[in-house]
Parts: sequence; C-alpha cells; structure tokens
Amino acid sequence: MSAHIHPSILSADFVNFERDFGTISGADSIHVDVMDGHFVPNLTFGLPMVKRMQEISTRPLDIHLMIDRADEQALPYAELGVDSVTFHAEASTDIVQLARKIRAAGAKAGVAVKPGTPLLEVLDSLSEFDLVLVMTVEPGFGGQSLIESTLEKVAEAAKEIDRLRLDVRLQVDGGIDLTNIERAAVHGADTFVAGSAVFGAVDRDQRIQELRALANQGLRQTR
Ligand code: DX5
Ligand code: ZN
Repeated sequence: MSAHIHPSILSADFVNFERDFGTISGADSIHVDVMDGHFVPNLTFGLPMVKRMQEISTRPLDIHLMIDRADEQALPYAELGVDSVTFHAEASTDIVQLARKIRAAGAKAGVAVKPGTPLLEVLDSLSEFDLVLVMTVEPGFGGQSLIESTLEKVAEAAKEIDRLRLDVRLQVDGGIDLTNIERAAVHGADTFVAGSAVFGAVDRDQRIQELRALANQGLRQTR
C-alpha cells in the first residue's frame, strides 16, 4: 500500500482551475469539494463545473460531495466518468444502495463521516465501498486545524479494513500538513487530502512529493 496525495481545489483559484490543475500534475488524484450551502455552510460549484473539470483534467478526479439528499443527487457525478464519488453517510438514507448505483455507473464509491458521526453504519457495509473518508475537520472550509481525536476513528476503520482484508482506501481530509501527515498514516490512513498545505506552497508538485514521502514513512511503520 503506498500513500496517495489528493490536493483539494478548494484552495485553488476559482477562476483559474485549468491553470492550477497544471501546477499539481504530480497528484495521484484531484480532490473536488462540492458544497451546497445546506449540508455545509459554504457553497462551491455543482455538476456543470465538475463536468468541465473532468473534460480538462489530466489527473483522475476524486469528488467529495458535501450536499444534502445524496441519494438523489450523487449519481449524475458518477456518470461524468470521474474516478470516485464520495457522499456523506449523514446525507443518505441508504448508503449501500447508493454505493451500488455509483459503482454501476462506473465510478469508485466512497462514504464520508463528519468528526461527530460514529463509524458503525459504515463499518457494517465496508465491502460495498472503495473508499472511506474520515473527516479530520468539520466539513465546510479549508485551512482549519486537524481535530486530533478523529485519528482514533481512522485507527478504528483501518483495523476493520485489515481484519476483513478489503481493498478499501482510507482517506483523511482536513488540516493535513507536513507536521501531521505521518501521524495520520501511522493511524492507518493511506489517502491524504491536502488543500492549503499544497496550494500554499511555492512549488506545489514538490510539496506533494514531500507530503507523500512523509506519509509513506508513516505507512511503513504500520501496515
Ligand atoms: C473541507 C474540505 C477539504 C478542504 C481541505 O470541508 O472537505 O477538502 O478543502 O483543506 P485543508 O487541507 O486546507 O484543510
Ligand atoms: Zn474534501
């Protein structure tokens, strides 16, 4: 298992996405935060923008839906040909059913939980997913500090994925930077979203490499 770094374009220049995509060509995937102003108190963009991103991107897209009514709203994103679509467990009434629809549309299926949401429901249906996202901040805004207690949930998810020997990526999102990425990896995360830590660097591709090296160092100590 090697570490994947997914820069979050929430920290990119919103009128220059194409240019900014070019500065992160070393990314394993590009993390795209869709926010509806209801599920989270922030609004970004929706389907038409993500469609254009998919057309111009040379890297796979990892869509993080922070939107209400995921059961009705998530599928069109999967149908764009993106790599993965992650919805929030809190916004779905049937996470297994929705995961199956996303996979049937040809995308990897991911499920996300906010810091205060227990993992129980997600751990009960792990085999239905390609990706579990443990939020390490309250979703909504970039540039926040990682909530340390969420790493215990990362460890809990990692233990169950290992026990069942599943091919499920374990993603962390929020406040990930050079000071804590290795620790997140030691707790079992293998996929790391980083917004401000990447876009705040002068050389973004170099920062991606630094983050990846630290994460791989952490992974070697565990799994
Ligand atoms: C927060 C978003 C994150 C955010 C991460 O709700 O889901 O993807 O952009 O940004 P940083 O790395 O700055 O915390
Ligand atoms: Zn995100």
